[in-house]
Amino acid sequence: MDTEKIIQKFYDKESRLYKLLIIHSKAVTKKAIEIAKRIPHLHPDIKFIEEAAMLHDIWIFLTHYPKMDCFGNNPYICHGYLGREILEKEGLPKHALVCERHTGTGISREEIMTDKLPIPARDMLPISIEEQIICYADMFFSKIIEPLDKEIEREEIRKERLTFGKEKLYIFDQWTKKFWK
Ligand SMILES: [Fe+2]
Repeated sequence: MDTEKIIQKFYDKESRLYKLLIIHSKAVTKKAIEIAKRIPHLHPDIKFIEEAAMLHDIWIFLTHYPKMDCFGNNPYICHGYLGREILEKEGLPKHALVCERHTGTGISREEIMTDKLPIPARDMLPISIEEQIICYADMFFSKIIEPLDKEIEREEIRKERLTFGKEKLYIFDQWTKKFWK
């Protein structure tokens, strides 16, 4: 599968946003593969991780995030489930779920309802090992702070997770344990 070709269907190859998305997606893919190789006992599908990690943020272009040159109308949080819709239309339903489930450490139906988030009320939680690895790897890279392929320190990510609640930090810490054994 040529993931960059799929992305190019929606992006101008010369745009800053495309370049930014590719740098970010490649950094996340590289980290996700490194993690997958460390845990052969959990049998992650590395080929699938390579494809899905490249595509996980495909929908950002229609969100509203001017710092990243995204001038769409949708709140940024929508990029996950809308990315799912694009990839389902591309005939990639399994990759599509990675899009929907990769935001933060995942979002539950309950949170969506309680916080009145502007996304459909259903569980958007990473379930498969591949979904969890990509979600985890994604947190190590910013899309706004240069250099985009520089890893964020784990303690810094932990602090940020905590701002979303103790249970979010707990999930992150559980994944750290799982992926470093
Ligand atoms: Fe990402």
